[in-house]
Amino acid sequence: KPRIQDQVKEHFKFKLEHVDKHSKARAGVITTPHGDIPTPVFMPVGTHGAIKALQPQVLEDMDTKIILSNTYHLHLTPGSDLVKKAGGLHKFMNWPRPILTDSGGFQVFSLQKKSIKEEGAEFKDQKGQKILLSPETSITIQQNLGSDIMMAFDECIPYPATREYTKNSMDRTHRWLDRCIETWNNPKQALFGIIQGSTYNDLRKECVDELVKRDLPGYAIGGVSVGEGAEWMEKIVSFTAPLMPVDKPRYAMGIGNPEDLIMLWENGIDMSDCIIPTKFARGGTLFTSRGKIRIRHRNYRRDFYPIDHSCSCYTCKNFSRAYIKHLFDSNEILGQVLATTHNIAYYKSLAEGARKAILEDRFLDFKKEFFANYKKDDS
Ligand code: GUN
Repeated sequence: KPRIQDQVKEHFKFKLEHVDKHSKARAGVITTPHGDIPTPVFMPVGTHGAIKALQPQVLEDMDTKIILSNTYHLHLTPGSDLVKKAGGLHKFMNWPRPILTDSGGFQVFSLQKKSIKEEGAEFKDQKGQKILLSPETSITIQQNLGSDIMMAFDECIPYPATREYTKNSMDRTHRWLDRCIETWNNPKQALFGIIQGSTYNDLRKECVDELVKRDLPGYAIGGVSVGEGAEWMEKIVSFTAPLMPVDKPRYAMGIGNPEDLIMLWENGIDMSDCIIPTKFARGGTLFTSRGKIRIRHRNYRRDFYPIDHSCSCYTCKNFSRAYIKHLFDSNEILGQVLATTHNIAYYKSLAEGARKAILEDRFLDFKKEFFANYKKDDS
């Protein structure tokens, strides 16, 4: 019987279409059982099996290609057995397109109270009941959910971390990866490995080498955006990304601001996710080609222009800044709906603009134009 790593190749593919002539930026297509994903791609986050404030139909109308969801949260509520009974997460949430699930490796480790052992990570749920998340349980849960891309169960360590802690944690994460691969038995679901190693280049390199030996369908940079700051983040990404296989998708986890995305793409990253566009939207912070605006600011009281004149989303085509400010001031949930719609559209069009530029060998011009327009704070 062929290895699962070879079986999955029938259902999950990555085609590298083009590398920009003047940078490392790449354009490609990921093929999954629920559809194709042109890259670079940004993945909106639907932690509990819902993109907060948005109907799946709205996401489909915007042509969102893939969303992310979370093992940890869906395990606690409603439980992955129930989701499996409902026919899997795609059916349960009525989202017919690709889904990536994170392993819980990040969510558990951001808890205050947990204990990490060789077996896995132990913590208490809302009712105080002990729960063990391990490589085996994480993969079993992700297989019950039926995501197109599953993430390996890892330890995401905070910044700063000592070299000794980082090395020991990373070695354990590799042993966990082998247990993930042992548990993985559905060739219609791809398993991605996660590169750790904190700020230590030699450990990052060692980690990539270990992961590549396992011949996985894709690889992710983890352990970034954990408090290290933009400079370290760029150092880690620019060192690690070129070490990753050219013929597999490269994913940077939990990043980031529009500026960060430009940096990721310039370094040859294909996929990323972040709660920023959705979370900021619900708080009234909206992205525009000229920078962020805080829509509740009094300046927008009589501003009858759209959020972003260069945006063609439903919100920008139909509503003014003054109206959206009014919705936020009145605590109308439609404000959050319209804001989320816009921010998701903004991130999508940024990624699409980058992809087009890469295919035409003008990514650096794209970057230049972005920074010429985008002010750090425009409100
Ligand atoms: N999300 C953001 N960073 C990480 C990471 O290092 N590991 C996992 N599993 N998820 C993440």
